[in-house]
Amino acid sequence: MHKRGFWKTRFGFYLAAIGSACGLGNLWRFPYVVGENGGGAFVLLYLIVAVVIGLPLLIGELSLGKFTRRSVLSATSYIDGIHQHGNRFVWVGRAAVVLSLIVLSYYAVISGWVLHFTTQFLVGVFSPESFAQRGNMEVLLNNGWLQMGLASVHLLLTVGIVLKGVQEGLEKWIGYMMPVFSVLLVALVFKSLSLSNSANAFRFLFYPDFSKLTWSSLIHAVGHVCFTLSVGFGTMVTFGSYLRDADHIPTAGARVTIVDTLLSLFAVLILFPVALGASNTPLTDPGLLFEVLPRFLSQLQGGVVFGIAFFICLYLAALGASIGLLEVIVSNWVDRSKVSRSFATWITGGAAFVLGGIAAVVSAYMRGMRLEGRSFLEVMDSLLINWCLPVVALGLSLVVSLGIKTVEKEKLFVDQNKIASVALFPHWLVMIRWMAPVVIGVALLLQVVGLILTGI
Ligand code: PHE
Repeated sequence: MHKRGFWKTRFGFYLAAIGSACGLGNLWRFPYVVGENGGGAFVLLYLIVAVVIGLPLLIGELSLGKFTRRSVLSATSYIDGIHQHGNRFVWVGRAAVVLSLIVLSYYAVISGWVLHFTTQFLVGVFSPESFAQRGNMEVLLNNGWLQMGLASVHLLLTVGIVLKGVQEGLEKWIGYMMPVFSVLLVALVFKSLSLSNSANAFRFLFYPDFSKLTWSSLIHAVGHVCFTLSVGFGTMVTFGSYLRDADHIPTAGARVTIVDTLLSLFAVLILFPVALGASNTPLTDPGLLFEVLPRFLSQLQGGVVFGIAFFICLYLAALGASIGLLEVIVSNWVDRSKVSRSFATWITGGAAFVLGGIAAVVSAYMRGMRLEGRSFLEVMDSLLINWCLPVVALGLSLVVSLGIKTVEKEKLFVDQNKIASVALFPHWLVMIRWMAPVVIGVALLLQVVGLILTGI
């Protein structure tokens, strides 16, 4: 096995982990999933699932990486090796890597959308008419080749950064962007809360009306929590494998979860007051962010400049997340075979380009077609995030709970200087061993029941 890089500073780990967690999942996906599931009750469900399932799983993944000092594929086969029980867990590692590749491709397409709006805002500085004509979703959704081109630009950038290696590559980029993005987001929250619709939006988002939940809402919450925390892809196993001995995993996990959740809440606070005013955009539309925000920004005074800054930051967030995804696949590949890092990076980037390009072109051609009222993109998204991802996350909870001995887990979790970690350890064990598998299992079952009842 090649020598592993370590984070130069603890900050470096946080930048990469938060950079991977915070991305399009928070700003693009969360709002429309909340819209789809009727608002407040789902937000509450989401928050509970994040604490009870997401955080324990995140801690579990980081622990698996730190314990084995390997990426997910080697880690799972290493665990199989320790227990000498054949290939019991390695499927989890394989599934996580395949999932990462598929998600990287489709993430590249959505990142391409962000690039489109970034360039349109830039053009808008010089030519407002052009922005009015081209700065919308219709232009994009009808043009699969444009989406493919934008996705390829995004993948090239991602490949370029990952080629530079873990430390220089990851740490630098995300660090520059975070403070700027935080300021922009806070400014936007204030702006949007001053709109006349903000009381309605608040009510929609925080008043739980449980009758709005459906059979699939629980799995939607589980799937999205895993997606947004980058759990179930092996990303956090890789990041954990680079942690130094002194780093405390539960603290790291909690911080990543808090920052990520706050960002998601900011996203809905920004979007819903605007979206509820723009009556013709359905809240359930996967294009919600892109339908609503550019129009809103372009109407503000100085909005174009704001739009440029916002979309550049959003793009960098998407880039941070893509880097995490590509990094997992590459580090797994390099760990397992003799290929060079650059070869693995180029080939993976190329594969993502082919898959993402096909998805973009197919979805543009199939725009008019609907499957049970859903577009191609929605069907793919649901298949990946609401079916495959929870299954892999469940597998990972089993790898950690059954594959690593309790004493080892205790060493990874407990820091004698942090009394809370002693008290919380048994709770984490229960969550990862019982809560996570049972809740995910039940959620999948409810989704199946829902499908049967609604007659597919
Ligand atoms: N967590 C990222 C987001 O919310 C997506 C992602 C998943 C990134 C898995 C890396 C690995 O956008």
